[in-house]
Amino acid sequence: MAISEQKRTFQLHLQDLSDHNPAFLETIYALANGHLGVRASDPLQGNSHAVTGMPGLFVNGFYDLSQISYGEKYAGYPENNQTIAQLPDPRYLVIEIDGQRSDEATFTTRLVDKNLDLETGLLNELFEITTPGGKMLQLSLSTFASQADDAIFGESYTVRPLNFSGSVKLYKQHPYIDQVFDRESDPRAVVRKNGLDRQYLSADFPAMQITTQRSQLGLVLMWRYLGEDSLVHFDQNDGMPRYVMDLDLEQGLAESFDFGYSVGDIHSLMDVAMNHATYLKEANNHLEHHSFSSLFTESARQMQAFWRDADIQIEGDPESQKGIRFNLFHLHQSAGHDGHTSIPAKGLTGAGYEGHYFWDTEMFMLPAFIYTDPDRAKQILMYRFQTLDSARQQARDYGLDSGALFPWRTINGSEASPYFPAGLAQMHINADIAYAVAEYVAVTDDQTFLAEAGFEIILETARFWQRMGSFGVDGPQGGHFVLNKVTGPDEYTALVNNNYYTNRLAQHNLRLAVIFAKQLQAVGSDKLEALGVTDKELADFSHSADEMYLPFDKELGVKMQDDGAFNMPIWPFDQTPRDDYPLLLHYHPLRLYSHQVNKQADTLMSDFLFPEDQDIEQLKRDFDYYEPITTHDSSLSRAIFSVLANRIRAHHKAYRYIAESMLTDLNNSQGNSQDGIHVGNMGASWMEMVFGVAGMQRTKSGLVFSPHLPTQWMGLGFKIKYRDEQVEVHVTRSQTQFTLVHGNGLTLTCDDQKVTLNESTPTVVVDLVDK
Ligand code: BGC
Repeated sequence: MAISEQKRTFQLHLQDLSDHNPAFLETIYALANGHLGVRASDPLQGNSHAVTGMPGLFVNGFYDLSQISYGEKYAGYPENNQTIAQLPDPRYLVIEIDGQRSDEATFTTRLVDKNLDLETGLLNELFEITTPGGKMLQLSLSTFASQADDAIFGESYTVRPLNFSGSVKLYKQHPYIDQVFDRESDPRAVVRKNGLDRQYLSADFPAMQITTQRSQLGLVLMWRYLGEDSLVHFDQNDGMPRYVMDLDLEQGLAESFDFGYSVGDIHSLMDVAMNHATYLKEANNHLEHHSFSSLFTESARQMQAFWRDADIQIEGDPESQKGIRFNLFHLHQSAGHDGHTSIPAKGLTGAGYEGHYFWDTEMFMLPAFIYTDPDRAKQILMYRFQTLDSARQQARDYGLDSGALFPWRTINGSEASPYFPAGLAQMHINADIAYAVAEYVAVTDDQTFLAEAGFEIILETARFWQRMGSFGVDGPQGGHFVLNKVTGPDEYTALVNNNYYTNRLAQHNLRLAVIFAKQLQAVGSDKLEALGVTDKELADFSHSADEMYLPFDKELGVKMQDDGAFNMPIWPFDQTPRDDYPLLLHYHPLRLYSHQVNKQADTLMSDFLFPEDQDIEQLKRDFDYYEPITTHDSSLSRAIFSVLANRIRAHHKAYRYIAESMLTDLNNSQGNSQDGIHVGNMGASWMEMVFGVAGMQRTKSGLVFSPHLPTQWMGLGFKIKYRDEQVEVHVTRSQTQFTLVHGNGLTLTCDDQKVTLNESTPTVVVDLVDK
């Protein structure tokens, strides 16, 4: 690929997008770094409702509580909503011309251009501002969320009068703290006002402490002018700290100003109240003696290091190339990495799903991190370990005397779903997390993590299944271990007995507990004693796993989604207008629950995770049964179908799913990207490439590949880490090339051929067989 073309696939230009709705663009161009995220809004909007944008700053894990109001509240229901705070937009600027101020009079902002350089993480925007009196000003803004120091958000403003010369005043101030906008019509977008308090802090730059009233959290936020200009001065005469820029501008000539925001770590309210001076000093240290360009250079260097390991090249299809890079970029910038936070389903780009973490993290995003950035994968799993006590409490609230039940959706580790049929009942989350822990350990061989955190997660979740399940009394379930009244991944089917996916994952969870317990026993670990594990308990786990009931329709030869699944009528698809999708916005849940209609991959998700469970004929039967009844109303669905279509060699279909899912956010195909990106789908698109197109599977004997390139592409390239090795894979239609990038060497398999890479043979090429 020529250099300029290669560069272009790292650029996201406004012209590339067909939807120019402001709220949509704010999401797409949002910048984040795992700690903070900022929507790319109209910099003059602030908290004005006159414009349709939804600006704001999100800090991962910074949320408030509000009491859930139930019509009828039963025992054990969660008490509180948890809602991520939408803090003041750091890009906010007030402009004053001829005594008219943009926060008082209606200035119009015309977006001229936006361009995101994915390679460095720099966003450049150009606006044309018109005052009510007709004066026009060009405003360009360059911003980045630092990848080197996650407290920092950098901004550089340039103003240029277009049709006048004269006095212009600019203010950098934040007179409000809550940026909430009312939009209650979509259950996926519910936004609640948080109880936020602010106290300005004494300094020679603007600074405040922001605290939450009910969750009792606090952080320090400050901003600094990054320059020496005498035209910029700090002012707090009326009690509100701000920077004021008093300019005398000449038509056509530009003036620039750089600012840095520092967003401190989250502490308890009490801690911040007592120690804000220390935290302010820390926040200031991030910025003092730095310039926009020195901060940006550091950040861009980290961004480039990320691409070195995580980039995926798709040759011959610039649109897919851009799509995958955009997805990888957001996936990376959304992920918490402090061991106390995870990845909100919408990243840090919007308030959709209230900033909650779901199974999306472990099942759809984590694989990309495990294979490209295992340290971050570990931190993400550590978040679950940190919240294990809350999960234990949830198991008690559910009525069990032992074990842990992780929440379906949460920020602080407690359940935040007020609707249990599609919330708490999705207990598969427990086994999903256990599965993810085991995958991380298998790929990295991180025995320290296993002993210190991973095993406890697996053990406590297994204990939950052991107590929650029971042995069936009669019928096909008689004598088998059964899990009743659960909801599987498909949210159009709820509260069923023996959801195939849940049972299969729980079986795996129980087995993992036994395997890892024995492994730890063998190395003389004292962990088992400390956690009260007995031989009897392990034997019970094994027995339940061996007897786990997995519903199967013998006549059809298809795995059944649950005990009653096939007795229900098929949803009347032919009488459902196109506009009625997603069905959840148009039909009562009970109507959906009483039909065979799937929102997303459910039983097929089990086939996806356990390829060794079925031969290709079985997979085909399952696929052919479930595909026609699946609406893909969840963005998590298509990528799984794509990987499976590749496995059953329906390659054209696999490509169609790739084409649809890869551009989910860029094309706003779910229709709700304005509330935030779909990061789960972005992680899943990594899986589509690596597990689907390259056909990679982790087996007992190591990594196995079965590549098949879509006819629309010329090549696919990516790198993966496995144990201490890093391997570069390049697939073309006729060959696959494996190159050892780092490490001593390893043996893998490609289309039944053994490939041994080592120092003396770092590259091996395998001719592909026709599939
Ligand atoms: C999906 C869930 C997912 C959640 C958050 C829902 O629409 O059905 O599987 O966890 O969105 O992304």
